[in-house]
Amino acid sequence: MNPTLTDDLLSRFSGWVAEQMGLHFGPERRLDLQRGLEATSRELGLGDADACLRRLMAGPVGKDQFDVLARHLTVGETYFYRDQRSLEILETELLPGLIQSRRRGERCLRLWSAGCATGEEAYSMAILLSRVLPDWSDWAITVLGTDINPRALEHAQQGVYGEWSFRGAPSWLKDRYFQPVAQGRYRLIPQIRRMVTFATLNLARDPYPSLLNNTNAMDVIVCRNVVMYFSPDQARRVLARLRLCLVDGGWLLGSPTEGLYLTESGLTAVHFPGAILYRRTELTSARDEGLAAEPDFAHAVPARENSRHGPPMVPDVSGDLRSKTCLGQETGRGAELPCAGPDPVVTVFERALEDHRLGRNAEAAAALERLAEGPVQRVEVFDLLTRVYADQGHLKAALHWSDRALAADRTDPQHHYLRATILQELGQSEQAAASLQRALYLDPDFVLAHFTLGSLARRLGQVASARRHLNNALTLLAASPPDAVVPGSEGVTAGRLREIVAAMAAQEAVA
Ligand SMILES: C[S@@+](CC[C@H](N)C(=O)[O-])C[C@H]1O[C@@H](n2cnc3c(N)ncnc32)[C@H](O)[C@@H]1O
Repeated sequence: MNPTLTDDLLSRFSGWVAEQMGLHFGPERRLDLQRGLEATSRELGLGDADACLRRLMAGPVGKDQFDVLARHLTVGETYFYRDQRSLEILETELLPGLIQSRRRGERCLRLWSAGCATGEEAYSMAILLSRVLPDWSDWAITVLGTDINPRALEHAQQGVYGEWSFRGAPSWLKDRYFQPVAQGRYRLIPQIRRMVTFATLNLARDPYPSLLNNTNAMDVIVCRNVVMYFSPDQARRVLARLRLCLVDGGWLLGSPTEGLYLTESGLTAVHFPGAILYRRTELTSARDEGLAAEPDFAHAVPARENSRHGPPMVPDVSGDLRSKTCLGQETGRGAELPCAGPDPVVTVFERALEDHRLGRNAEAAAALERLAEGPVQRVEVFDLLTRVYADQGHLKAALHWSDRALAADRTDPQHHYLRATILQELGQSEQAAASLQRALYLDPDFVLAHFTLGSLARRLGQVASARRHLNNALTLLAASPPDAVVPGSEGVTAGRLREIVAAMAAQEAVA
């Protein structure tokens, strides 16, 4: 152990780690923190632990350095069917209900394992889904697995596991869904592997819910054995944000050790024999306002310009709306409103923006629809309605309002981009790609359109196209200051997106 690391220095480093990764290293875990730091300094060749710590805290920390530190500080323990009882309830109660209701409308289901480590939890959900939904390939299915540790995600992507990963699993799991590849190693069958998408996401700092990283409108989120390692403040913030990622009626599955934070999250505890699961039910305005005003949640719902922490849901278009109202630049039919005094349209719109930001989507939608059908019609209202419905998982309604936005203004590449994200959620990849191409035709420097088209091409196995668009995105991002928020990105900085794209482009280069 390094004798020069003082308690004070280590304690400041622990505060820095909590801010960057959410992880809490109280006095009882200081030894773990020190060991993780020493392993990081060895791997990065940054001198001794003291020098490494000072170097990291002085910043800026490169992605590679951050990844190594995250790998040495996180606990990646996991296995298939880890919480059998919750999965049983998911299989026998929650999913059948969801499937029945969706069969009549949009055949779409969205599940997310947040903090998925090496992927066993996300794949357990995919297996379970394939069992209760035999025609799943006719549905738009999203099973997302995210983690802060890219090395764990690489393992997940390969889908090859040893015996230890099956220690809690029913015996049929390995027999039916895995093929032996070597002594004691098993590869998940491709049909299930292809159901799951993995992506890095730092729950402490990255934006969510977001159309950009596909973390919106989730039916089920499993976030187990993750926030138990977080500082209480960070744990509360993460759960408050995960709540916003759920559709109304969506479910969050945590572990009993995280029960305290879950009960404070604004979700409704639902008791099943042997397990408590948490459900998003539309909260009353008063309750929500109480949450927003609470000091602990100040970071969970911060000002939009705080790009690193803010719940990134909509670009701030109220300024546009205000100026357009006063300048009389309506996009549709109807009379101009006088500029003197508070503009009722702007007031209602701003209130709806705030409702959406706080996850009160039903209220936002109702107010916006009244505006949309009123005498003064504005493209910003259609745009926000599109986002509000997309965030609730009402994709047909989202497409309808996206059509209205495009009918009002076909020249705005953002409208085409937004439409593409919805089409992607509906599983309509070709139409999504066409919308992205239109966005790029209107604005060849539209970073997000290149990024999304690159990701889409990757998923479709179009290697050359994926490389081209990811490289275009990288070139454009290199020209922006790292702290600048990427336009239309809902708060992602150029530096962060560059890291994400670079990691994807590197994978393509070796593919
Ligand atoms: C103990 S594992 C839990 C895996 C799985 N959820 C389960 O219950 O079996 C905790 C995971 O949380 C991840 N994690 C820790 N901090 C995180 C953060 N800030 N953002 C995203 N993931 C994080 C770790 O990398 C690790 O893979």
